[in-house]
Amino acid sequence: MTDQATFRVWRGDSTGGRFESYQVEVHEGEVVLDLVHRLQATQAPDLAVRWNCKAGKCGSCSAEINGRPRLLCMTRMSALPPDEPITITPLRAFPVIRDLVTDVSFNYAKAREVPGFIPPPDLKPGEYRMQQEDVDRSQEFRKCIECFLCQDTCHVVRDHEENKAAFAGPRFLMRVAELDMHPLDAATEAGLDRKATAQEQHGLGYCNITKCCTEVCPEQIKITDNALIPLKERVVDRKYDPLVWLGNRIGLR
Ligand code: SF4
Ligand code: F3S
Ligand code: FES
Repeated sequence: MTDQATFRVWRGDSTGGRFESYQVEVHEGEVVLDLVHRLQATQAPDLAVRWNCKAGKCGSCSAEINGRPRLLCMTRMSALPPDEPITITPLRAFPVIRDLVTDVSFNYAKAREVPGFIPPPDLKPGEYRMQQEDVDRSQEFRKCIECFLCQDTCHVVRDHEENKAAFAGPRFLMRVAELDMHPLDAATEAGLDRKATAQEQHGLGYCNITKCCTEVCPEQIKITDNALIPLKERVVDRKYDPLVWLGNRIGLR
């Protein structure tokens, strides 16, 4: 690693912007966010960047490094090609507010469209019992830090603003999958068909399982294999279930 890095940082706002080049000192063991902070301290005090924990847990410092969605605080300088300029840009799928800060409110709107866990009416808290494999599945999905890197990288919306209304994105389809596979969720009894909403409201059919979301997840959640593919299978199984088919034919469902 060199003791100086060349950073090409996108500077601008919603009306447009440009790349600015900076030479920044690099010390042993540093991550990209350390250099962004050094840049703010020495050369660009007005550079806007969002961060909070510097430990890969708050999900705030999402940006793109050399065109790849990453957490600034979890990307070691030693993992990047030495002696080459490092390009830092805001998340591409979301509108820029300023510099490296984007407006991710799309994700909060999508989160509000997924009804939460519906408790079983015949059990009180404390009486819930689940198989360990069901607990493990939920816990894997619950590791999500809401960095939205998966939402940013998915090709369905990355360059297709027009798809956003119809597609919730991997993070929220994973949430629907978690709840649909939850053995105690009482959605059906409450008249909520999570499989139907996955397909018709949240755009599950747009996902063609390219797995880019899984590749960028900093929590190594197997979004595609453990959430999206099982949810697709459950939707298809139900569609071709002979009893469901018969019920539809005679108007019972
Ligand atoms: Fe980030 Fe992974 Fe959660 Fe997506 S699923 S928002 S990539 S932590
Ligand atoms: Fe997109 Fe992930 Fe599906 S990247 S296409 S949601 S597998
Ligand atoms: Fe919290 Fe990077 S600053 S995840």
